[in-house]
Amino acid sequence: MLPRLGVLISGRGSNLQAIIDAIDAGRLRAEIALVISNVPDAFGLTRAARAGLATQVMPHREWPTRDAYDRAVVEALRAAAVDLVCLAGFMRLLSPAFIDAFPHRILNIHPSLLPSFPGVNAQRQAFAHGVKVTGVTVHLVDPLLDAGPIVMQAAVAVLEDDTPETLAARILEEEHRLYPAAIQRVLNGGWRVDGRRFVADGRRSEI
Ligand code: GRF
Repeated sequence: MLPRLGVLISGRGSNLQAIIDAIDAGRLRAEIALVISNVPDAFGLTRAARAGLATQVMPHREWPTRDAYDRAVVEALRAAAVDLVCLAGFMRLLSPAFIDAFPHRILNIHPSLLPSFPGVNAQRQAFAHGVKVTGVTVHLVDPLLDAGPIVMQAAVAVLEDDTPETLAARILEEEHRLYPAAIQRVLNGGWRVDGRRFVADGRRSEI
């Protein structure tokens, strides 16, 4: 049986699309069991519907507290028998109870080389800082914002004639390549978390 992914979105869903495309192309051996959006008109929901995926709209304001909301999301993921949760532009911090429900089974993608430029507008932060190299990080989620063991990173050069927009577009291309590869890496197993570090356990080779 293929591993079952739960993808959480809040917006345009281009990383969701990259996951869908990688599965279709046979580059990612998994299936998407459920797409959850906290934003009812997120364009990612349209992408999911086009791909024939199960979707659930869960506007967070309909729950009284973050904990209650997260419990409901965890329940939905469990009901869909999700093995691995992929945050793909999901604009909410997860509570410790959510993270504990899927230990080392929640991934996030962030558009910078963490730990540089966490939080929102990472591409703009990197541009404004004047770094010459930025990039993309896929990491396991822990209770801190944009922290957690790093699974994979990819570098993106900042060019002389870049604008924040052209830089963000090149970073996004790299995101679409990296996220499916990192998901496959996690699904392959043969890794462990050592302190802050995601490391190959030596019994299998890196992809
Ligand atoms: C991406 O830049 C991702 O790295 C960040 O949120 C954005 C989501 O974009 N976490 P999309 O909805 O996948 O197009």
